[in-house]
Amino acid sequence: MMPHDWRPPTLTTPRLTLRPFTTADAAPLFEHARNPNVTRFTLWDAHQCIEETLAFVHDYALLRYREGTAEPYAITVTPDPRPIGACGCFWAAQPHQTMELGYWLAEPFWGQGLITEACHAVLAFSFAEYGPERMQARVIEGNHASARVLAKLGFRDEGTLRRSLFRRGKFDNVRMFSLLRDEWAAATAPAGKEARPEKRGR
Ligand SMILES: CC(C)(COP(=O)(O)OP(=O)(O)OC[C@H]1O[C@@H](n2cnc3c(N)ncnc32)[C@H](O)[C@@H]1OP(=O)(O)O)[C@@H](O)C(=O)NCCC(=O)NCCS
Repeated sequence: MMPHDWRPPTLTTPRLTLRPFTTADAAPLFEHARNPNVTRFTLWDAHQCIEETLAFVHDYALLRYREGTAEPYAITVTPDPRPIGACGCFWAAQPHQTMELGYWLAEPFWGQGLITEACHAVLAFSFAEYGPERMQARVIEGNHASARVLAKLGFRDEGTLRRSLFRRGKFDNVRMFSLLRDEWAAATAPAGKEARPEKRGR
């Protein structure tokens, strides 16, 4: 357990500020979390009332911070403080050094590259801070925009876990994607310092 007031550090990108959630975020977040277009391919259902959004902040986000998990991050468009989505990386299997990336964005903000920008920042933070060997992401089959986001971030498609998710009364196929530590390092190496294959026979 971390001190009760531990929070993930704020991250900034050219357009966004990613910061920890507070209970004051419930009202503006509810306006987006209530949208069934947003939840079409998510594990969580569209929020029916603001209390559900408050529970997300209070019973999920703040508990994660209490564990020392830097997730979920509130996504805001600088300098507007209102949250327009969430993203972050958490341990899927710590003994195996595997983390998982998750994200969602409010519908009015789709198609501007914002989630790719946000996820790039949380990936950089999570690889640097926690050093996982593997970052994975799961996408319910049919969520083409999400698969495209992962491709833009350098993730590889590993295949489909057929009917592995029971959701809303039916089984869904789930696509598994991953990005390995050395792939991330090679993709983000400064120009002129690309990772080279190790010399052999030394
Ligand atoms: C998936 C989601 C996060 C994408 O956010 P976004 O900010 O629009 O993403 P970006 O703009 O960075 O990139 C989207 C890409 O998908 C592409 N795309 C969008 N709809 C698509 C579709 N139906 N088929 C194929 N590609 C599609 C876009 O053209 C873009 O690719 P490009 O940059 O090569 O043109 C957003 O739609 C969302 O929050 N959806 C609801 C929640 C969700 O599904 N979360 C993910 C769960 S795994």
